[in-house]
Amino acid sequence: MAAPTQSRPGVAGGAASVRAAAKAGAHSRITLRIFRFNPDTDEKPVYREYTVDADPTDRVLDALNQVKWYEDGTLTYRRSCAHGICGSDAMRINGVNRLACKVLIRDVGNSVTIEPLMGFRVIKDMVVDMEPFFAQYRSVMPFLINDSPVPTDGRERRQTVSDREKFDDTTKCILCAACTTSCPSFWADDNFVGPAAIVNAHRFIFDSRDGSGDERLEILNDREGVWRCRTIFNCTEACPREIRITKAIGEVKQAILKGGAHNVTVRQPASAHAAG
Ligand code: SF4
Ligand code: FES
Repeated sequence: MAAPTQSRPGVAGGAASVRAAAKAGAHSRITLRIFRFNPDTDEKPVYREYTVDADPTDRVLDALNQVKWYEDGTLTYRRSCAHGICGSDAMRINGVNRLACKVLIRDVGNSVTIEPLMGFRVIKDMVVDMEPFFAQYRSVMPFLINDSPVPTDGRERRQTVSDREKFDDTTKCILCAACTTSCPSFWADDNFVGPAAIVNAHRFIFDSRDGSGDERLEILNDREGVWRCRTIFNCTEACPREIRITKAIGEVKQAILKGGAHNVTVRQPASAHAAG
């Protein structure tokens, strides 16, 4: 697979003029240049342009909905919650993996290019085949495993606050795939388990109540596991939940090298992106 490039966040044509319009409380005419491809009928993808009215505080998802509901009902993309929770509307917006429901028009400008996530088969327009992504997710056993007897008082398995903090960050994942599909290691090798699967493994490896951390570490101790990560940080920059993905991957690598999660000191930096 060729290794495409991903632009850095914040690169947006016309964003300043849209922000000025926002201050004036004005509508803007927004041009959406949208990737269109139906493999059943099209030989190759094309980009189609649509112009819509949008408030600077509208989300990109609102602009897409305008196209779909009033101009071209064949436009296809996933969305559900519209509030950054379900993770279904991850797509490339001006070259950057984002959730369409979390990105404001004023932050991307009045000329917006919309494309599907890279590295997955396109089913139609922005809808990609997520099954390989979920297969990698399932491969790390993303669920609590504890075969020990329940506590004698019949109540919950207790955990200290500091034990809980070790994996607090990685509980926030919404499985949007923005991280994995922004990773050059994944573009080059789609057998790489990918950052999202490692994040979800981390969530259980560092959970003091779980009994299968070593098994997960063995799964990830592989050339297609954590060692494929080259610490490029694209994943951390792409994550809409601001999970410190590169830090989590580093902690999993350390746990493998030190013989278990209990031998790793997990520190929580004050600033979310300070430690990647
Ligand atoms: S780690 Fe972040 S970017 Fe990756 S799947 Fe989870 S929420 Fe999405
Ligand atoms: S529609 Fe659910 S996260 Fe955007």
